[in-house]
Amino acid sequence: MRQNSKAFNRHGIITLKNVGKINPESIEDFIAHDGYIAFEKALFDMNEDEVIDEVKDSGLRGRGGAGFPTGLKWSFTAPLKVKDKFIICNADEGEPGTCKDRLIMEGDPHKLIEGILIAGYAVRANKGYIYIRGEYYLSIERLGKAIKDAYKHGYLGQKILETNFSFDLEIKVGGGAYVCGEETSLIESLEGKRGLPRFKPPFPGIAGLWQKPSVVNNVETLCNIPDIISKGGEWFRSFGTKKSTGTKIFMILGNVKNPGIIELPQGVTLRELIYEHGGGMEDDKELKCTLVGGAAGCFVGPDLLDIPMTIESLSEHGAALGSGSILVLKEGTNLIALMKNLMHFFKHESCGQCTPCRYGTEKLYRLICKISDDIARNKPDVNDLNEMLETAKMMQKTSLCALGQSPLMPLESAMKYCVIDEFKKRVIK
Ligand SMILES: Cc1cc2nc3c(=O)[nH]c(=O)nc-3n(C[C@H](O)[C@H](O)[C@H](O)COP(=O)(O)O)c2cc1C
Ligand code: SF4
Repeated sequence: MRQNSKAFNRHGIITLKNVGKINPESIEDFIAHDGYIAFEKALFDMNEDEVIDEVKDSGLRGRGGAGFPTGLKWSFTAPLKVKDKFIICNADEGEPGTCKDRLIMEGDPHKLIEGILIAGYAVRANKGYIYIRGEYYLSIERLGKAIKDAYKHGYLGQKILETNFSFDLEIKVGGGAYVCGEETSLIESLEGKRGLPRFKPPFPGIAGLWQKPSVVNNVETLCNIPDIISKGGEWFRSFGTKKSTGTKIFMILGNVKNPGIIELPQGVTLRELIYEHGGGMEDDKELKCTLVGGAAGCFVGPDLLDIPMTIESLSEHGAALGSGSILVLKEGTNLIALMKNLMHFFKHESCGQCTPCRYGTEKLYRLICKISDDIARNKPDVNDLNEMLETAKMMQKTSLCALGQSPLMPLESAMKYCVIDEFKKRVIK
């Protein structure tokens, strides 16, 4: 039976269910809440392929933004007969407005370790890294203690629980570059180099860290794994929609009465997120629009309040779910100022490796600054908007990585829903 979002309140369901309930610094407390049971089930009762089949059956898709099917990703790496294989947990979380992974790492660090261990067992990897952003002091501290305790209890190290499975895990702290969340630049950074994205293919699953097969997964993705193994793929599919199974963590931000982080079954609508879980619009103002998925996301207007917030339904409307952050904006918000902020972010975070992005992000910022100044003088020129759009389109076609391809989505959607109104209110040449 499918479960709908109305049945849930602010307690987590899968990935956040222990957060706020257990002591994150106590492995004993985690174990008392069925911790490491799924890992033991995988290790003792299932072979590696059965674990991958269960994850495939669950329909789990990556929660890092791109939504790639997790079981399928693992199945590329598992059969490769190579001495060293790696699990890399992407805990960089650099997307503006995104802070879900931090909540899990601070509140339930052993769940992440358990997810990584099961992934390692399934693809026959022998080493894992958690690449975590440097500003996440508490996550680093709690994960560090959790890893030490997991070694002491025999869940990490050589011949785990007296089996032939050996797995080591360590934390690598990132320097705060947004682009280092992109999987190949993250790998470069792990290798001790400057975080510049690589050409793909080959994909990391085939040739990743030190050219060895490496599975890169997001924190939220990996934290779904223990429950999928202990309760089954079919149970997981009872949450969500046919194509977007399970739950999703949403960050409801901006002009709502109760901003916050909430895990809900997939398929929840924007209206439910804002008016039910977010408590409604701040000061009972009208909704202007929302920015879904952070800086690389998409503006979604009130016309889409009743569609499910899933990858497939948003993509039918030219939008994307991304990391699941929902920035709610009330009537009267200055979207040009917001766009200026976003364009500055892309310019600042471009690694500069390829020309379309290096020059393009610079040009987009210059143009939005001009538009902002011209609006202040009541003389905006619509040609500037068109030039921004053409530049972003060129960047989307020719940039090496998704950072340079990203500005088109917020820009195009902002124009469709909102920015053009700001022009209409004023004189257009
Ligand atoms: C510029 C950029 C930044 C990214 N930042 C993150 C991040 O902070 N965390 C993350 O999990 N994925 C991030 N990604 C996506 C990763 O490249 C990759 O798709 C993801 O970690 C795969 O994990 P998943 O399959 O579990 O989603 C980013 C991608 C790009 C292009
Ligand atoms: S698109 Fe931008 S961030 Fe990506 S490699 Fe090129 S310059 Fe670097």
